[in-house]
Amino acid sequence: MKIDVLTLFPEMIDQALSYSIPNRAQEKGHASVKAHQLRHWAIDKHGNVDDTPYGGGPGMILRVDVADAALEAVDHGHTAHRVMLSPDGDQFDQKMAEEFSKKEALVFLCGRYEGFDARIEEYVDQKVSIGPYVLSGGELPTLVIIDSILRLIPGVLGNVASLAEETFETDLTEYPQYTRPNIYKGKGIPDILLTGHHAEIAKWRLSKRRSASNR
Ligand code: ADE
Repeated sequence: MKIDVLTLFPEMIDQALSYSIPNRAQEKGHASVKAHQLRHWAIDKHGNVDDTPYGGGPGMILRVDVADAALEAVDHGHTAHRVMLSPDGDQFDQKMAEEFSKKEALVFLCGRYEGFDARIEEYVDQKVSIGPYVLSGGELPTLVIIDSILRLIPGVLGNVASLAEETFETDLTEYPQYTRPNIYKGKGIPDILLTGHHAEIAKWRLSKRRSASNR
């Protein structure tokens, strides 16, 4: 999978994806993530990519000509699935992560400041939000999305079972897990887990997952 990120802070993307599973996914060649500096497509030698809103108002707006040029440069002919990050976009969830993980190429366009020129929407396929709150830019949402999709690419997680067991499709409820010490500050763990009866343990775990999802 090829992922391009258009951002004013490419280091933020590179840094955050250089650990743990996202790092392994790239090292093992399952995905190649490249963060591009949006100022590369600036309209002038000062590196301007944004401007004040027509009609007045606070903040600066990402320019449509800059966004179009950047998108065209990293996704010539528009073959990738293009995503822009915005709090008023489609709510990201596990189902969307699974859909994205099957794409051959993805582009994420991160805005900053007060937002995007509305015409930019015509150059992307989807506007996505990671939740009903406002962040300072699209970089953290992009990182959340990339992290969640890289781990879904077959072969990325060493232990395939942990992916299959982790969820029932998009049911995110988990059974409680414990490790040593088996008594901590007087609090023990469920006896069943110490019996070694794998079938009974599996039944117990299923019951715990069910009761969690009925909450
Ligand atoms: N940009 C700012 N806030 C955001 C959010 N919650 N989701 C996606 N992009 C954003």
